Formats: sequence, structure tokens, C-alpha cells
Amino acid sequence: VVFEDSLAASREVAREIAALIKSKQKNNQQCILGLATGSTPKGLYAELVRLHKEEGLSFKNVISFNLDEYYPMEPGSIHSYVYFMNELLFKHIDILPENTHIPEGTLTKEEISAYCNAYEAHIEALGGIDLQILGIGGNGHIGFNESGSLQNSRTRLVALDHITRVAASKGFGGLSKTPRTAITLGIKKIMEAKRVILMAWGEGKSNIIKAATEGPVTNQVPASFLQEHRNVAFVLDKAAASKL
Ligand code: GLP
Repeated sequence: VVFEDSLAASREVAREIAALIKSKQKNNQQCILGLATGSTPKGLYAELVRLHKEEGLSFKNVISFNLDEYYPMEPGSIHSYVYFMNELLFKHIDILPENTHIPEGTLTKEEISAYCNAYEAHIEALGGIDLQILGIGGNGHIGFNESGSLQNSRTRLVALDHITRVAASKGFGGLSKTPRTAITLGIKKIMEAKRVILMAWGEGKSNIIKAATEGPVTNQVPASFLQEHRNVAFVLDKAAASKL
């Protein structure tokens, strides 16, 4: 779906999320959202905050699971995805703090694998993700599932690609200060989400959007796995769609 600009696109995605939350509310059900970080979803979160403040959209029945977190990472750090989510969304809405989940960046190496299994088991126990929001890395990564990630990959500790670290390094004040690893939800749980919306803005994403949507399904471009998802939308602005 191609929109004039990222603002119009973000508004439409926010409308879809709001409709889902409300329909779940009507049926006394929880709404399980998979959330993403990065610059791409900032407009979406601003719009959700607006819908809460101006139109009374409640998030009390929402349970969220974020895709990923750098490792190691202190939750109080301004670089953490915990900080990002609190500042841009959680602290402005009425979601219950105990209903928000972000992979922990402070585990010991030995704890990670059991933690990742429990993160997935928690999602499964709630019936799976109703709607998963995604951005896309310049190399086609989703979450932090870098090139080479398998379609059935599980939630795990991953090494970040050089290109991913370079993209992140500005925010960290240089490459040497940028984490080398992260914990990410695996492709398997993303593919199991009942609905997936991948958003991308700008000319800089146009080549990878073409590869992900029109190229072969390959683990070299993890977002291309979404071609095999039953209910996926790529929501783009004109510039990101310009090579299609
Ligand atoms: C990071 C995040 C991804 C995100 C990607 C793109 O790597 N872990 O979830 O999709 O960045 O970032 P941006 O939206 O800033 O282009």
C-alpha cells in the first residue's frame, strides 16, 4: 500500500491498530501487539498517543511484545529500546506497565537461552501476536534477524551486521560504542503473527523494498520471507515504493 507520505501512512496504520484494539475490547479480549523500534514507527506511535489523548482510545486490554533489544543494555540507558518505547509511547498512554515486554539487555550469557524460550512461550500462552509492526533494515533485516537468519529461527542472541552497527553508530556516538549483539524475536514468531505490517519510508529504503517484495524469497533478505505470510501489508511512502 503506497501513501503520499509517511504521515498519511502512519495514520492509516494507527487507525487499523485502533480498530483492532476496539474490536477486542468489545469481545472482552486482550489485544497482543508486536512492536518495533527505529525511526520508522515514530509517527505511528505519535498518532496512537494522539488517538489516546484526543479520542480516548484505551490500551488497557493491550499486551505488547517488542521485537528486540541491544545486548548488553541497561534499561535506564537512553540508548535502550526500553527508553525509546517509554518516551515515545508507553508513558503517554494507559497501557499497564506489567503488560509491556521488551527483551532484557542485562541477563548473563547463561540466562539468555532460557529467557528467550520463555519470551516465546509467553506469546504462545496468550494465543500469539495479533498484529506485528515491523520496520526494515537497509540490509533487509526484520527485528534484528540479519541476513542469513533462517525462516524458522527462534528468539535468540544475534551478532549485528557491520552495516547495522554503522547505521546505529550515530546514535551511540561512534562505532566503537555501538553494541555488537542484540536479542531478537526470531523469524518463526514473526511469521506466526496473525497480521504483519511492515512500514518503510524514504528513497533510502527503495532498493531493499524492491528486493524484499519482488526478489526471491531468500535468507539473504529476511524481509522476503514475508512474501509467504498469509496476511501481510507493506505500507510505504512514495519514495520507498519508487523502484517497484
Ligand atoms: C533497527 C531495529 C529494526 C528496525 C531497523 C530500521 O535495526 N532493530 O527493528 O526496523 O532498525 O530502522 P529505521 O526505522 O530507523 O530505519
